[in-house]
Amino acid sequence: MPRPRRFLPAGPLRGRVRVPGDKSISHRALMLSALAVGESRITGLLEGEDVLATAAAMRAMGAQVERSGEGVWRVHGVGVGGLLQPERALDMGNSGTSTRLLMGLIASHPITATFIGDASLSKRPMGRVIEPLSLMGADFTSSPGGTLPLMLRGASPAVPIEYCLPVASAQVKSAILLAGLNTAGITTVIEPVPTRDHSERMLSGFGAELTVEVDAAGIRTIRIRGEAELQPQTIVVPGDPSSAAFFIVAGLIVPGSELTIENVGLNPTRAGLIAVLRAMGGSIEEVNPREVGGEPVADLLVKHSALKGIAIDPAIAPSMIDEFPILFVAAALAQGRTVTSGLDELRVKESDRLSTMAAALIAAGARVTETEDGLVIDGTGGEPLEGGGPIATHLDHRIAMSMAVAGLASYHGVEVDDTRPIATSFPDFEALLDGLAG
Ligand code: S3P
Repeated sequence: MPRPRRFLPAGPLRGRVRVPGDKSISHRALMLSALAVGESRITGLLEGEDVLATAAAMRAMGAQVERSGEGVWRVHGVGVGGLLQPERALDMGNSGTSTRLLMGLIASHPITATFIGDASLSKRPMGRVIEPLSLMGADFTSSPGGTLPLMLRGASPAVPIEYCLPVASAQVKSAILLAGLNTAGITTVIEPVPTRDHSERMLSGFGAELTVEVDAAGIRTIRIRGEAELQPQTIVVPGDPSSAAFFIVAGLIVPGSELTIENVGLNPTRAGLIAVLRAMGGSIEEVNPREVGGEPVADLLVKHSALKGIAIDPAIAPSMIDEFPILFVAAALAQGRTVTSGLDELRVKESDRLSTMAAALIAAGARVTETEDGLVIDGTGGEPLEGGGPIATHLDHRIAMSMAVAGLASYHGVEVDDTRPIATSFPDFEALLDGLAG
């Protein structure tokens, strides 16, 4: 049953909040630990449904994956090449990252696996990974349009490829690199537009032979040598900037707010939203910068700010690809017009985030025009939105959280049709928000 909720206007947000572990890093930590020989220990793991789907899949393929405390997990790996045939279909739930990265891992193992998922995931395109992994020798039987349910027969032996990414996608890049782990020789991915580099960092950390070359035009060439041997690690997962984003924008748009968000990962391939919000006039200060688990991290001090609309350069999109829904909320409260373009990829996320957010913001009283590849938003200049709903979130956690934040800066509140998907990435979101607003 859907769980609707009206998010009511709130007074100043004050105090401190600590966001959960990074989702991208959590998936990779489990997968690589499951492929190392011996026991890895992970702390700060995100215990959201998406990551738990990855944990269950690694268990189903022979790894010992155990929770020993809040965010603390032990994984006993099977070694590269050691994954076992899963007995049942792998249920990926809502998680595109689990699906695409695991397709990569399995593609170079001599096993067959079936992938299933929820209604949202079952609409998402898998052709982008099927194509390169087929070139490596894997065999796929997918549902029409290259979607789930899908059956994958891994190649043994797989053949190394050199592949230039036709879409800016860290998931596609990572799928190929993970397939390269159990492929003799050098697997090469060419990335014309940089995307999040957690896979590269963590593969190197686990001892894989991986190199990254960047040419004068910024094109990245990533090479991995297989068959790799991974050494177990102790991993500390930093806080997720994509989860912090909701509190950053809430602090900026709710008058009188002053909020510290602790332990936020600031990897430059993820930090686009902060640069854009600062360019809009947002006051976001980095306090106590440090390194956690090989990633840059800081606490963020956010103060309510008068935001101005801007034109956003599409080149920054990959470094804030999951943050557009909440950026659109910030734009709806800014002074003047915000123009975004080049965002076709948003149409194939957990929902079509351009049409879903246009409809959601209009229902909440914002002025929004949807274009082919972006939104144009005329902000209120700080005046609260009228409010309204129910908002159709289409099984998309980030739409639900974005519109919850919009409700805080509205006259009558915003009703979200279903809050359940929030648990895919941020199970404590509502409790943390209520704690600050209360
Ligand atoms: C992710 C990559 C991005 C992002 C997703 C997580 C990852 O997807 O939207 O939430 O962990 O590699 P794409 O690679 O499809 O852009």
